[in-house]
Amino acid sequence: MQVLGIETSCDECSAAVVTDGRILLSNIVASQIEIHKPYMGVVPEIASRTHVKWINSVVKKALDEAGVSFDEINGIAVTNKPGLSGSLLTGLSFAKGLSFASGKPFIAVDHIFAHIYASHLENEINYPYLGLLVSGGHTIIAIIKSYEDMQILGTTIDDACGEAFDKVAKFYNLGYPGGVVIDKLSKLGDPNAFSFPDPSLHKGEHQYDISYSGLKTAVINQLDQFHNKGYEKTNENIAASFQKTAINMLLKRLLKAIENTGIKTVVTGGGVAANSYLRQSLSELKGITVYSPSLKLCGDNGAMIAGLGYHYLKNNIKSGLETTVLSRVPVFRKTYP
Ligand code: KG4
Ligand code: ZN
Repeated sequence: MQVLGIETSCDECSAAVVTDGRILLSNIVASQIEIHKPYMGVVPEIASRTHVKWINSVVKKALDEAGVSFDEINGIAVTNKPGLSGSLLTGLSFAKGLSFASGKPFIAVDHIFAHIYASHLENEINYPYLGLLVSGGHTIIAIIKSYEDMQILGTTIDDACGEAFDKVAKFYNLGYPGGVVIDKLSKLGDPNAFSFPDPSLHKGEHQYDISYSGLKTAVINQLDQFHNKGYEKTNENIAASFQKTAINMLLKRLLKAIENTGIKTVVTGGGVAANSYLRQSLSELKGITVYSPSLKLCGDNGAMIAGLGYHYLKNNIKSGLETTVLSRVPVFRKTYP
């Protein structure tokens, strides 16, 4: 079964063709990074208007590169939550139009489950496992029971992990997008140059929750120290020290989850899953099997949407034209969705 996947939840305009939820025939990701760079962040209105301009050619390119005609596509999968409403609406409306005109089914899928699914495109992975979803919008540690069922153990109570990277980079004027720049700069810095707060684990049901606002504020306040005391500002050391603390906060909670659940398989997903310090640290865990998507599948992409969508479509589960978008999803609940 060949599924066309469409992903426009934020600033990547992406489409892909995937066979049987596993075989990646094409994965076109048109990045808007250069467009949003002057603003040092994604401007929602510009993002959705750019998707409107690009979506047709991105989908066409995905079909061309896969060597598949639209007639040979069995169904369409599209992200409808969570994300920027205008951006999501572009992809969803496009998918609905294709479905209505062709009579082919479409399924609206969840971006969070899709990020976790990304590793399934490259590996045979059995459920259940521990999922670590770290992106610009979410930070979730969960027991993943199936492609559509997770038990959330912990989430961020304020900033998402990627968001903290982006905000620190913005305050220090390090460049855009922040996560990538900090990862790169860190390689030249001393991770022990600054000691930033690393809050200890809570007790009970909140033990896996995480807060990045304290760390973010401490790193940003360090900037005033440079200004006020005339110290030499070393971006590399700031980046490395921040990155080490931010990632260790995740690892601490993940290790606790492994210990408490006895689950020894970990699957990561989301833009921050590309972080080199995180990948290195995970690869050093003894007795734990870790699956991280290849770098091209960490960030937003249509392949993970097509892959996940296949599992619904093969069971004849499809969406109706009344389907709409949802910018936020209730990840504070212990069962999701
Ligand atoms: O999954 P994604 O592409 O979009 C969302 O669903 O949010 O994730 C984007 C986030 C951004 O915050 C970006 O700074 C971060 O992922 N990111 C990284 C790295 N590459 C991207 N963060 C840390 N290290 C990286 N190498
Ligand atoms: Zn994402």
